[in-house]
Amino acid sequence: MSDHKKYKEYTVDEVLKHNTKKSLWIIIRDEVFDVTNDHKKYKEYTVDEVLKHNTKKSLWIIIRDEVFDVTKFVDSHPGGCDPIMNFAGKDSTTVFVGNHSDDAEHMKNQFKIGVIKRT
Ligand code: HEM
Repeated sequence: MSDHKKYKEYTVDEVLKHNTKKSLWIIIRDEVFDVTNDHKKYKEYTVDEVLKHNTKKSLWIIIRDEVFDVTKFVDSHPGGCDPIMNFAGKDSTTVFVGNHSDDAEHMKNQFKIGVIKRT
């Protein structure tokens, strides 16, 4: 494999546990894919729309042009409330990629609500 990323290794038994609509993983040629959200057609938001959701009552963030509603998650975020609050409504791609494990990558998918509309 010529991937630049070091991927996490899973046993087939571990993958098999993710067999519900809440967490759905598949294997293709020994690679593991999280397809939990793939059946959904996502809503498109402009950056300005996302930016309005910048309080603890409604807290959205952007990672790689995807929109996540982390309102219910922020209080249990392992990195604390503050880092997420600082990026409320904004693009947090760089800080997310720099600070998170593959587990966190999977975890974030459950909060996805849409994608950024690019004109
Ligand atoms: C849905 C979005 C997010 C999820 C699911 C998530 C999840 C996690 C998890 C599981 C950890 C523990 C370390 C790891 O396993 O990687 C962590 C740590 C952390 N997160 Fe997040 N996070 C999210 C968004 C963010 C955002 C937007 C920021 C900053 C703007 C942030 C900043 C941090 C920091 C600074 C740590 C601590 C890293 C360390 O202790 O070295 N996270 N997060």
